[in-house]
Amino acid sequence: MPERTIEELIEVKRDGRRHTREEVVQLVTSYVAHAMPDYQMAAWMMAALLRGLDHDETVWLTDAMAHSGKVMDLSSIPGLKVDKHSTGGVGDKTTLVLAPMVAACGAPVAKMSGRGLGHTGGTLDKLESIPGFRTSLTSEEFVAQVRRIGVAVIAQSPDIDPADKQMYALRDVTGTVPSVPLIVGSIISKKVAGGAHGVVLDVKVGSGAFMKDVEHARVLAQELKRTGEALGLSVEVLLTDMDQPLGCAVGNALEVAEAIATLRDDGPEDLFQECLALGSRMLVLSGVARDLDDGRSRLVGAVESGAALEKFRRWVEAQGGDPRVADDPSLLPHAAFTREVLAHEAGWVSHYDAECVGRAAMAMGAGRAHLDDDVDPAAGLVLHAKVGDRVEAGASLATLHSSREELLDAGEERFRNALCMSEKAVGQRDLVIEQ
Ligand code: URA
Repeated sequence: MPERTIEELIEVKRDGRRHTREEVVQLVTSYVAHAMPDYQMAAWMMAALLRGLDHDETVWLTDAMAHSGKVMDLSSIPGLKVDKHSTGGVGDKTTLVLAPMVAACGAPVAKMSGRGLGHTGGTLDKLESIPGFRTSLTSEEFVAQVRRIGVAVIAQSPDIDPADKQMYALRDVTGTVPSVPLIVGSIISKKVAGGAHGVVLDVKVGSGAFMKDVEHARVLAQELKRTGEALGLSVEVLLTDMDQPLGCAVGNALEVAEAIATLRDDGPEDLFQECLALGSRMLVLSGVARDLDDGRSRLVGAVESGAALEKFRRWVEAQGGDPRVADDPSLLPHAAFTREVLAHEAGWVSHYDAECVGRAAMAMGAGRAHLDDDVDPAAGLVLHAKVGDRVEAGASLATLHSSREELLDAGEERFRNALCMSEKAVGQRDLVIEQ
């Protein structure tokens, strides 16, 4: 059959019909070759969001995206390469803790990460708040560093999965982010193109996540696993709570400081537990640990012995950063202005709108509305009370940080709107919702 025109391909999905593999490949290759303009891809993605793609269409889309550019060759690094990916949340600094922890246990970590967009933060912005840290290594430097010290985290290079780069930026401004097949295509194509054997996926659920309820998150988790496995990846998926920020710090340098505290066994308990849940699965997939219990005890051992913190120092140094931050976080950027948000009355913290907390940090300079905006590395906030904690009247609920004093008011207003207090005691939230 002759190729259809792009308009015909859009009409197929608009009318709820099923694509052939050739049609899906045609859409992706035309778009990457700039033979299909943004407005047509946006129309097709909206049709895909509204009408859905079945499992086969999702696999074809993912495969075409993964092969839209170079596929990373990690074969010269010994061992099974295992990656992790979070669907995005507020205060999610797990990669900063997990990468050195897992590498200290002997599993190679060769990871490409993204920047923050909207209310969620990005690992690259966090790493770049460490003075001197470089995230743009060449593929050769990247592979050589993982061979030498067992860990490297870099920005996705433009020639790896260019389809996702273009489609993600377009989804972000056309209301087409929360589509299961498009999220699956975006995440799994990056993992296939990144050369991983296996991946641990952290699907966030709740007010700060794309998936606001467990039912939708479960559908996403199942499709991520099925599609990843269809393309030859070993996949483990966890559903974790994003109805409050992970840990206490939200904002780039503040999150690096919290990650360092966690590597010193002095961080927030929920963050540490999440790192153990994800990291033990990474160690099992990589063949380093026999089972999850063995994985957890190896990770705890790496923290207690100082091996994980030492790996962090070597990693930061290898990428041009100042390794002394591991021992002296005051070397990280500091905001010129801080403010305590005081509780007007006593009670228990019953709920956070985590997205709104992320927006409070953004309003003070920690995030970006557009991909080419600058971020203030020192801006953000640190919570002093999590869901279930008792707070007395006049106690500090959070410390706000910004390099621009005039932004603190907007940060405080958003933070107060994000927080609900109760007169009755409230239980702590479970972190791992489903595994
Ligand atoms: N993370 C991604 O990489 N892509 C998505 O579509 C959503 C979360």
